Amino acid sequence: MFESIEGRPAASLEGKVAFITGSGRGMGRAHAVLMANRGADIAIHDVNKDWAEETGELVRAAGRKALVMIEDVADIEAMAAHAKTAEEELGRIDILVNNAGVGAERTGIEGVDPAFFDRLFNIHLRGHFFLTQAVVPGMKARNYGRILNVSSMWAMTGHHYGATYTAMKSALLGLTKAWAKEFAPHNITVNAIAPGGVWSQMAIEKEGLESFTARSKKTPIGRFADLDENAALVAFLCSDEAAFITGQTIGPNGGQAIVGI
Ligand SMILES: NC(=O)c1ccc[n+]([C@@H]2O[C@H](COP(=O)([O-])OP(=O)(O)OC[C@H]3O[C@@H](n4cnc5c(N)ncnc54)[C@H](O)[C@@H]3O)[C@@H](O)[C@H]2O)c1
Repeated sequence: MFESIEGRPAASLEGKVAFITGSGRGMGRAHAVLMANRGADIAIHDVNKDWAEETGELVRAAGRKALVMIEDVADIEAMAAHAKTAEEELGRIDILVNNAGVGAERTGIEGVDPAFFDRLFNIHLRGHFFLTQAVVPGMKARNYGRILNVSSMWAMTGHHYGATYTAMKSALLGLTKAWAKEFAPHNITVNAIAPGGVWSQMAIEKEGLESFTARSKKTPIGRFADLDENAALVAFLCSDEAAFITGQTIGPNGGQAIVGI
């Protein structure tokens, strides 16, 4: 049932609890901070303790509760236990952002070994599939949920040096559609974003500053996104205002996808 948003601040997340994977730095941190500024308590998760604790400080500085959890998202039993802890300590999980990720192979098919393939599968897909499995029963019990999968523009366009990454990010779009249908009767929406280039450390380290800068200038908008530029979209899709949006993928990419770079 649609809850009236009349008279409330735009995309308010007042009183909500969000669990955000990979929120130690980069876009995940930006989602955590903006959601906290809009009223949500945050379960911060990352494999890197220092980064996750820094995000925790930023969330607390915004006046919200922060629960910091350190884990490899690929460890599905440990992640399920963290989801339970977050529900106990923060009261529930209303919003799940499946964001943690690592970069593409940047090589053709000959350069991909099974260990790399399995690692990308375990982080991007298997880890987030089973974390979602752990979180959904609580959402069903409360008849409310927002799930946001962080895919990539490459899932829409493909990339000649990123087939493994593209495959895993494409699978997330499949999950987005299937889960949207499966969970809709429980008032749980499932959407995805498929960002183009974003100035994260991961993207710069993977591609190299020179090449990344040169490519950014070829987008119709003439640049790649700042780290926090997709956070408002994610917060909106995870708000009550987006109650009628489900199974959708939105591509914040400055027009990059239409010129194919
Ligand atoms: N930067 C881009 O251009 C771009 C474009 C499209 C999609 N993405 C996706 O956006 C998401 C965020 O990436 P980002 O660019 O902010 O990179 P980032 O490296 O700044 O942030 C990723 C975070 O995930 C964490 N992480 C990585 N592997 C993990 C694991 N196994 N377990 C737990 N945490 C883990 C990292 O420690 C880091 O804090 C990723 O899923 C990425 O694939 C990025």
